Amino acid sequence: MSKQSDIDQIRVDILTQNICPELAEQATNLVIGDGNVNAEIVFVGEAPGKSEDEQGLPFVGAAGKFLNEMLETSNMQRQDVYITNIVKYRPPNNRDPFPEEKEVFWPFLLRQLEIIQPKIVATLGRHSMEYFLPNAKISEIHGQPKRINLGSQTVVIVPLFHPAAALYNGSMRETLMNDFAKIPNILKRANEYDAVLKIMTE
Ligand code: URA
Repeated sequence: MSKQSDIDQIRVDILTQNICPELAEQATNLVIGDGNVNAEIVFVGEAPGKSEDEQGLPFVGAAGKFLNEMLETSNMQRQDVYITNIVKYRPPNNRDPFPEEKEVFWPFLLRQLEIIQPKIVATLGRHSMEYFLPNAKISEIHGQPKRINLGSQTVVIVPLFHPAAALYNGSMRETLMNDFAKIPNILKRANEYDAVLKIMTE
């Protein structure tokens, strides 16, 4: 099976298992994720907003435009990375997702990461960060890479502020842009670490 068909199966499973029926009922689309299933970097946001719900794609509204800008200025292409959310349906009126909604979708996010096997997971906002780095405070650790074990893989988490929160907040915006610009170097170091680890275990 290809990686893409494995990801497609996640969509089928969420629908057939009737995950989060209260959100599903109000949503137009299930928003699984978008981008390169062979990506070295996966971005994980919170939940789809209005535009995302309408189009069935993550980060296509105002926050998505800002994300695209930051990708471009950091010499990354949107088609080279993979973008998803912890919660796959839009919460009504863009309210924060409830803990039980995040919890029920978490195993599906883990499956996505098992399939893609990224080097870096960049969390956008605290809702996705708290699952990878429990008890961490985003204001204290934003932009600082943390290597963690995740199922069968080790992955570097880069906690970032959420682009929607930073969009209209001058200082947070600058902080997010600075943190974002560190990603290519963090990736380079992650690749070097993996290369050394490979030599040591061969
Ligand atoms: N905000 C998110 O967290 N995710 C999206 O897909 C869009 C906005």
